[in-house]
Amino acid sequence: MGRHAESKLEQKKLIVVVGATGNQGGSVARRFIQDPRYAVRGLTRNPESPAAKELAALGVEVVQAELDDVKSLEAAFAGANVIFSVTNYWEPFFRPDCRAKAAELGVTCRKYAYDVEYRQGKNIADAAATVAGGLDANGFLASTLSNSRKCTGGKIDDLYHFDAKADVFPDYVNAAHPELAAKMSCIHTGFFTTSHRILPESYFHRLADGTFEMRFPCSPTKPIPNLDVNADTGNFTYAVSQMPAGKAYMAAEYLTWPEFAAAWQRVTGASIAYKEISFDEMVAAMPDRDLGVEVGLMFLYSSEPGYDGQMELLKAEDLRKAGIDCPMHTVEQSLAKMDWAGVLSK
Ligand SMILES: NC(=O)c1ccc[n+]([C@@H]2O[C@H](COP(=O)([O-])OP(=O)(O)OC[C@H]3O[C@@H](n4cnc5c(N)ncnc54)[C@H](OP(=O)(O)O)[C@@H]3O)[C@@H](O)[C@H]2O)c1
Repeated sequence: MGRHAESKLEQKKLIVVVGATGNQGGSVARRFIQDPRYAVRGLTRNPESPAAKELAALGVEVVQAELDDVKSLEAAFAGANVIFSVTNYWEPFFRPDCRAKAAELGVTCRKYAYDVEYRQGKNIADAAATVAGGLDANGFLASTLSNSRKCTGGKIDDLYHFDAKADVFPDYVNAAHPELAAKMSCIHTGFFTTSHRILPESYFHRLADGTFEMRFPCSPTKPIPNLDVNADTGNFTYAVSQMPAGKAYMAAEYLTWPEFAAAWQRVTGASIAYKEISFDEMVAAMPDRDLGVEVGLMFLYSSEPGYDGQMELLKAEDLRKAGIDCPMHTVEQSLAKMDWAGVLSK
């Protein structure tokens, strides 16, 4: 490599992406690697996994790190100009060894997964704080959700997969790490348009006459945020990185569930109607009671006060108004890319 190319390489900004082998982090890594001004370092527990090797093939520097090990995060964040953070509530929620551990501790798997997600989020924040001085002015981009406990005045106090995120991003960061907090942007993500894969019977229940019913404990008139997580988390985060720090965002298009159902009907040609059901009906429809309670609470909260807790969150159109390109798929465009054969042949 010539000296000129070498010095150009040295000038690259480094973005370190937590969760790079997953949906959100994978989208972020893939977006930033397209910009020659950035070098991308992606974190994973297993650099030998197919997802990690795919990233390496794209030019991402794949580095081993464990969210339960702050030292490994400190090493992985060294030299970062930007850090993208994401935490995963659902892995400890579903893992049989975590369920066994929860039972041993006498807590529900819902609360156990809260504790893991909170602890791992706190570890990311603590490690990021050690490199805060070297981060860009808007260099800590954290994926999060609204605080259901606060936004309902305590009426809902156990929507764990929302509050585990919100209790760290922004609350713990603000309280414990002012220098990092000053460089933080919080990015809320809407319902993934792929979430029907986790809740197939709730999204697309087949009736005896061959038509479909979408069934959630959520008002049919409430606008709900939805995100094409794999295609657009990166686009949105890349746009946010060009803003000043200290703001909170929602990466999503808002549609009511009947509007979502209508988009699906246009895409597939199948007939579908939306039906608001009760919380108890949702729980009863789930193969797993804890999953039913956790997602049932999410739909109740999405109905009142709303998935975003009625927080003032900047959207893609606000980024565009600020002169920043922010391409996003509509829900209909996102649904149109998917293969529905399996659902339609149920
Ligand atoms: N489904 C929805 O509609 C929806 C909507 C909004 C928000 N969310 C939230 O999205 C989050 C999940 O995001 P996602 O879908 O991007 O996750 P994902 O695709 O399941 O990927 C999880 C990522 O986290 C990494 N990871 C997990 N545990 C780790 C550990 N202990 N140490 C190091 N890395 C670890 C994984 O890396 P390796 O496995 O390679 O180590 C992987 O890259 C959840 O918290 C969920 O609540 C979901």
